[in-house]
Amino acid sequence: MWRTTRKKFPAGPSEGLKRWSLGPLNNNPLEYFTKIAREFGDIAGLRILNFKTIFINHPGLIEEVLVTNARKYSKGRVLRANRHVFGEGLLTSEGDFWLRQRRLAQPAFHRARIASYAATMVEYTQRMLDGWRDGDERDVHQEMMRLTLQIVGKTLFDADVERDAQEVGKSLELLLEIGADFRRTIFVPHWLPTPANLRVKREVAQIEKILYRIIAERRASGRDVGDLLSMLLHAQDEDGSRMTDRQLRDETITLFLAGHETTASSLSWAWWLLAQNPAVEAKLYTELDAVLGDRAPTLDDLPRLAYTGHVITESLRLYPAAWGMARLVVEDHEIAGYPVTKGMGVAMAQWVVHRDPRWYDSPEEFRPERWEDDLLKRLPRFAYFPFGGGPRQCIGNSFALMEAALILATIARKFRLRLVANHPVVPLASITLRPRHGVRVTLESREKKVAVASSNGRQAAVAD
Ligand code: HEM
Repeated sequence: MWRTTRKKFPAGPSEGLKRWSLGPLNNNPLEYFTKIAREFGDIAGLRILNFKTIFINHPGLIEEVLVTNARKYSKGRVLRANRHVFGEGLLTSEGDFWLRQRRLAQPAFHRARIASYAATMVEYTQRMLDGWRDGDERDVHQEMMRLTLQIVGKTLFDADVERDAQEVGKSLELLLEIGADFRRTIFVPHWLPTPANLRVKREVAQIEKILYRIIAERRASGRDVGDLLSMLLHAQDEDGSRMTDRQLRDETITLFLAGHETTASSLSWAWWLLAQNPAVEAKLYTELDAVLGDRAPTLDDLPRLAYTGHVITESLRLYPAAWGMARLVVEDHEIAGYPVTKGMGVAMAQWVVHRDPRWYDSPEEFRPERWEDDLLKRLPRFAYFPFGGGPRQCIGNSFALMEAALILATIARKFRLRLVANHPVVPLASITLRPRHGVRVTLESREKKVAVASSNGRQAAVAD
């Protein structure tokens, strides 16, 4: 049975909710929520950006909100305020419309289907590596962003977005930078011609131009290649109507944005953590060398690349791309005996739960080994929830895990990534958690090292 700390929580939602200044949330939400959890325990009443919000910090309470009482909530204010970007796509739509779209898209994410994407994931990674040289200095976050964008484009929309990747990447960067200002996002109507809004409009238009082109090309070709875009294009309502270009735009922009930046950031954090933990790095190389030798990974290798998987799991624990989530109450009810009423917000933070010493030993340490012996099965269900949960759980969960493991294995087999000294790697908690100034690394070819080591061995043998 889990314990709920009621310390300092007010008797009723309208009375004396603790006021917090607006500043800290915008400046450092990670610190802000960590501090609240430390001070108030598992449940706290707050005013965040002047809205009454319940912050919950216990797996049992999170399960109540995301699963048991999911129907009593809609998506939170920040996502709703971003509707002009995502439209009525899967991430932001609600009710019957959302359910219909989710059912339409689901087959593209079935296990057998995503298995067919594995070869593309490896192929695109290898193509990227063709341009990598020993000693090069690169921003690995930019590289991961470009790569995952190309993979989503190819696997879900059969579109080669290589030539667009740079433009989309830049536009996205700006959107996420601006999106990090939650106060502005919520309070400034998106149609007001402020400099930030005009910028958002320009960047969205830039991405839309590319998406409408992909949609138009497919419509014109009449091809049904069985990918997600074909499924959406050919789906018919009971009355025979099909999706409009606008609906298709909403679904594609959602999948492009939700489906590539999250995985890219997760990988960037993994590289950064690995580079600081040589013992973990060495263990990863040992596994890759033993399982793969000198060939690239395939889907069938993944069950034997257990440690590679643990590296991803542990990176997602410490640096969850979805660092926090929110909901809006649409039906009055109670959380842990406290009344919550329509219009109140409920917030939870993977960043805080994933670092809670009640669930994890030495929670701040990067220790992929902790996931050996089925830790996941022993934890309370929502002590680890990088992909959310309940009906709105991430549709790309298995896609992302497979993609991250294949990319990590393909690269780490060939290169070691060393951090460039004095480059600041700083988490930016926007809608997602990303390294604000990227992650600058120097590439060190592992093949060269192995070759040198073995030729040294040969010379020694000759000298003997
Ligand atoms: C490491 C990578 C990823 C992480 C950490 C992540 C995380 C999440 C989380 C936490 C949610 C739930 C949001 C909420 O309930 O408010 C979500 C939803 C979603 N994700 Fe992901 N995601 C990842 C990769 C992907 C990929 C690869 C795709 C698609 C190719 C994707 C598409 C979506 C969509 C469409 C939704 C909305 C689902 C719905 O409400 O029906 N995500 N993601």
